[in-house]
Amino acid sequence: MYRDGAASLENDNRAMAFVLEHDVPMQALNTFGVAARARTLMRVRSAQDLAELMREPVLAARPRLILGGGSNLLFTGDVEALVLKIDVPGMRELEPSETHWRVEVGAGENWHAVVEQLVQNDRPGLENLALIPGNCGAAPVQNIGAYGLELAERFESLQAWDFERNALVTLTLADCRFGYRDSLFKHEAPGRYAIIAITLALPRQWQAVRGYLDVDNALKARGIGAPAAGDIFDAVVAIRRRKLPDPAVVGNAGSFFKNPVVPREKQAELVRHFPSLVSYPLPGGRYKLAAGWLIEAAGLKGATRGRAGVYEKQALVLVNRGGATGGEILALAREVQAKVAEKFGVQLEPEPVIV
Ligand code: EPU
Repeated sequence: MYRDGAASLENDNRAMAFVLEHDVPMQALNTFGVAARARTLMRVRSAQDLAELMREPVLAARPRLILGGGSNLLFTGDVEALVLKIDVPGMRELEPSETHWRVEVGAGENWHAVVEQLVQNDRPGLENLALIPGNCGAAPVQNIGAYGLELAERFESLQAWDFERNALVTLTLADCRFGYRDSLFKHEAPGRYAIIAITLALPRQWQAVRGYLDVDNALKARGIGAPAAGDIFDAVVAIRRRKLPDPAVVGNAGSFFKNPVVPREKQAELVRHFPSLVSYPLPGGRYKLAAGWLIEAAGLKGATRGRAGVYEKQALVLVNRGGATGGEILALAREVQAKVAEKFGVQLEPEPVIV
């Protein structure tokens, strides 16, 4: 049923040693489309490539930057670290468990293409996460989520090269310590792990994940009461196309800030002053605030500073209006943080990694 490339996850007996590229333009390797250069870059096709790399003492000693689809980072200058561009291909179905279909995917596969292929091949469960930019290896790093679903809910384990132990290791769901846009990989020493492959667990008893207003409205508008996975996939794709800029057209990294979480008292105080504030109660009595609403209410939706901007249709997204430097985008991000802090007393935290 699937393309078979997963052999490269193991049993890789290519004789050829790895290749290093020098002074590499990175503009096409980050979805912000920022023009930075990497001093040295290596394309990683398998864990074996990393094993070979680590046998070279000079290279092994260099600081590293692990790069996937480049959809969750902002380059603010040229990259001195050794860039490991993770291009591990392949997708294969593993022996199912009693409750779940199990699919192993190489870290270099495009996330959306995998979601689409699985939905089309009667392996639903990821449709709410359609059209999220980036590659599969990056999905666990920030525990991607959208429309009521997070990767953690469809995840079994992953294989990663551990540069501390110099070995390929398996990390389970619990090991990955997933949280809201958060995981072990954001807290460990940067560059400790290079994710090589992930194993997804898709419930054999599929149930639609509903309850997200935008999706429910889109389904209602199409007169769909009991949606199939493909209907949700189509709805999510349509909503994202309407609200979020396509990185192939307008450089961006999705939501630039996390939705901040505040205590109940703070939320109540804000609602008193700003009755239209959008917020969601969390278990434990805290509240998640819609950062897009805060930024819009701070008057910054659609703002332009130099060649950087706040997206017109979704204020949580910063965009490259053409030729912006990482520094320009970062300066705008700082301005957004300062204005939101001043008006609401809430600190916004960037979601992408700033390099
Ligand atoms: N809102 C505004 N103004 C704006 C943007 C949003 O008032 O400019 C309000 C909306 O009206 C809505 C609320 O804020 O009531 C939430 O907006 P939306 O449903 O668009 O979702 P979000 O909270 O802005 C989050 C994720 C997105 C994900 C969507 C859908 C984060 C940081 N972002 O955005 O993820 O697609 O929910 O689930 O959690 C990403 O991480 O890159 C990303 C795009």
